[in-house]
Amino acid sequence: MGTVGTGVARLLVEQQQRVAQRAGCRVELARVVVRDRTRPREVLLPAGVVTDDLSAVTQDREIRVVAHLVGGLEPARSIMLRLLEAGKDVVTANKALLAEHGPELFDRARELGRSIAFDAAVAGGIPIVTNIAQCLAANQILSLHGILNGTSNFILTQMEEQQTAYEEALREAQRRGYAEADPSLDVNGTDAAQKLAILAQLAFGARVPWQQVAREGIDQVTLADIRFAHELGYRIRLIAQGRLSASGLELRVAPMLVRMGGPMADVRDAYNAISVVGDAVGRIFYHGLGAGQMPTASAVVADMIDMVVGRMPITFRTLKLWDQPDGAQALCPPEHQYRRFYMRLDVVDRPGVLAEIAGVLGRHTISIASVIQHEQQGDGPVVPLVIMTHRASERNMERALVEIRRLAVVQSPGVCLRVLE
Ligand code: HSE
Repeated sequence: MGTVGTGVARLLVEQQQRVAQRAGCRVELARVVVRDRTRPREVLLPAGVVTDDLSAVTQDREIRVVAHLVGGLEPARSIMLRLLEAGKDVVTANKALLAEHGPELFDRARELGRSIAFDAAVAGGIPIVTNIAQCLAANQILSLHGILNGTSNFILTQMEEQQTAYEEALREAQRRGYAEADPSLDVNGTDAAQKLAILAQLAFGARVPWQQVAREGIDQVTLADIRFAHELGYRIRLIAQGRLSASGLELRVAPMLVRMGGPMADVRDAYNAISVVGDAVGRIFYHGLGAGQMPTASAVVADMIDMVVGRMPITFRTLKLWDQPDGAQALCPPEHQYRRFYMRLDVVDRPGVLAEIAGVLGRHTISIASVIQHEQQGDGPVVPLVIMTHRASERNMERALVEIRRLAVVQSPGVCLRVLE
């Protein structure tokens, strides 16, 4: 009964009639398993439902569906296995658990004839899992990209709009219940990479361990970059992207420059958004709250209703998630991943510096699209230099950066960000 569990209990208790109508039968909140029974709760629960003993659920044959709202890997994994083995269908919001142990848990559920539903695990209130798995079933998904971490988006928005310091914005995100128990998982891209690995399984049939998703967080983004991006007509957002090409599948989480004027750049605060391209449907854009109590509870209770109605077990059986052998989908090598780049360097302000840097980029066949260097007030020896490139391969950019960072005129490692296309 943490943040999300409280929201789920609230919907089941306070909207019992609505849930019964949608489920086609009365759905009763039979048990709430907590660590500490004495702690006061925000929802008025029916008498006698609170217990600290999981076997009160596993041994009760009348309980069919369990909302598994336990964070982390253990004991979350063991609890899910116990529930499945006790014959329960399970709805979970735990993306880390699915990203880490999805193959094992889904295999076990299949063996036992049980189902696992997890729309709440990715993008909270946005029904992206159901959409990709069911509504877009006629399509080959060609690409998807999105903002999948509300905490990072909240921090970036606060920094951009209020000039709030990074730490202060993070504290506010924690206070509002968006952040993970360990918020470094939000800001270093882990949370978004785990969600992307789950979406990649659904959209591309790719059984890619989340650790293989190329990953950078927002910790390297500074106010200076946010301002330069603005000047160039972009906002910085933490983007999770999966795209198919003839060379394979590219999966990446990184802070990227997103052009203003498009819907992705307008995603503010803890909102999530996902843009999906299917070969039949074209581009679809989803937007909504990806974290927080009631948006996530909305997804959990919808999955519980789908279990009761019997839709979810059918989908679960036909989807065969994480059923393919490892490596079914080849990953695209960096030399075939093309995109534009933004680079900010602190350089010595003297003749020949720009030519030196441009020379390195040219030797790696990287073409410059624009350059910003502002006149300094006074005669500072070091100035920020911003370069936007045309499309270049990840491999070439990586090699060029190594050389540029070694130049004596370059005074700090600087920042290199990708541009979302
Ligand atoms: N910590 C996540 C976020 C919410 O900030 O988006 C749960 O997935």
